[in-house]
Amino acid sequence: MLRNTLDAYRSYSQQPNQLLETFKDEYLKQVGANWMSFEAQQSFLALVIQDYKAIQFPVPSTYTTKCLKYYIELIEKCKDGANEDGINDELIEEYTRRVHEQVSDGLETSHRIFAFKFDGQNDYSEIVIRVKQRFVNVGLSMWESGYLLGEFILSNPDLFHNKTCIELGSGIGLSGICLLHKNNPKPARKVYLTDYQDVVLSNCNENLKINDIDTMLILEGQDAIEDGKSAVIKHLDWKENNVSEFNADVLIAADVAYDIDVIEGLVNAYYAIAKRLKTTFEYFQKECEEDGITITDITEQFRMAEVFPYQDKRSTKFGDVRLYSIGLSTINE
Ligand SMILES: C[S@@+](CC[C@H](N)C(=O)[O-])C[C@H]1O[C@@H](n2cnc3c(N)ncnc32)[C@H](O)[C@@H]1O
Repeated sequence: MLRNTLDAYRSYSQQPNQLLETFKDEYLKQVGANWMSFEAQQSFLALVIQDYKAIQFPVPSTYTTKCLKYYIELIEKCKDGANEDGINDELIEEYTRRVHEQVSDGLETSHRIFAFKFDGQNDYSEIVIRVKQRFVNVGLSMWESGYLLGEFILSNPDLFHNKTCIELGSGIGLSGICLLHKNNPKPARKVYLTDYQDVVLSNCNENLKINDIDTMLILEGQDAIEDGKSAVIKHLDWKENNVSEFNADVLIAADVAYDIDVIEGLVNAYYAIAKRLKTTFEYFQKECEEDGITITDITEQFRMAEVFPYQDKRSTKFGDVRLYSIGLSTINE
């Protein structure tokens, strides 16, 4: 079982060259043989690329193709005798098939699978997320602040246990999945995941269902009687709607202070995470101050397990990702 390689591939968290490095290391450690051998190529194909979960919830086809191409090229470069077995036909066939099937319009739906362990549990739990490419729609992609909020929820379940939670701008729904995961020993009682676009709400609903969470979807203009489901995916435009009607104990939000225009509607939030553009964040701070709302950086104060890939978080391109408590009192009170 190539656990590290498989996790990196399923979560689509390493570049093809990094993934091959992970594979080389892991194969050598586990099998004691060279990554170029016929058997190694077969293992990479069967245990990683053709993994049943990765077939059920595919990563972007361009990514798979690049990984296969990179591996084949690495083997080809070693023609000087180090590579005695040559390239496995099945590897070439898989690569050729993928090249022909490849969808290249950027609208492709792909998946990321994250494996982690809840505190005190020996078995791995998984989260599956259906996403689109970033430029298609911000609410259909994964964002670094969303990862951090997810890790905060997974690492501090007592803050959410048996509580009614509402999230603004939920996007792909990662927070709700963390709060209501079937293996979470301290789940929330009820979670309202809200956003303002029907296409985003529908994708969020699908994501919760993929993760075995019973949901109810209420699109814009729909009037529905809530039937006791623990997750309600509901239209809410934070500029127009009032969140107090939800009677929630906890309000969460990730990466929603990315546009100065949206900030005015957001100052009622109790928890939020966001810090990408310095000017946007400073404006957010000023708005909060004027409304008598405290915002406290709690990133260092709370233990957070690293469950999600952080290559973007660490790059200066996305700036500093921080966790804030927003409200009239601090998170502990
Ligand atoms: C950058 S994404 C972050 C999504 C998610 N919270 C995450 O961190 O992955 C911003 C989200 O806010 C939503 N959004 C933007 N303006 C909104 C508004 N006025 N009311 C509700 N949601 C809004 C977008 O549809 C999108 O899902």
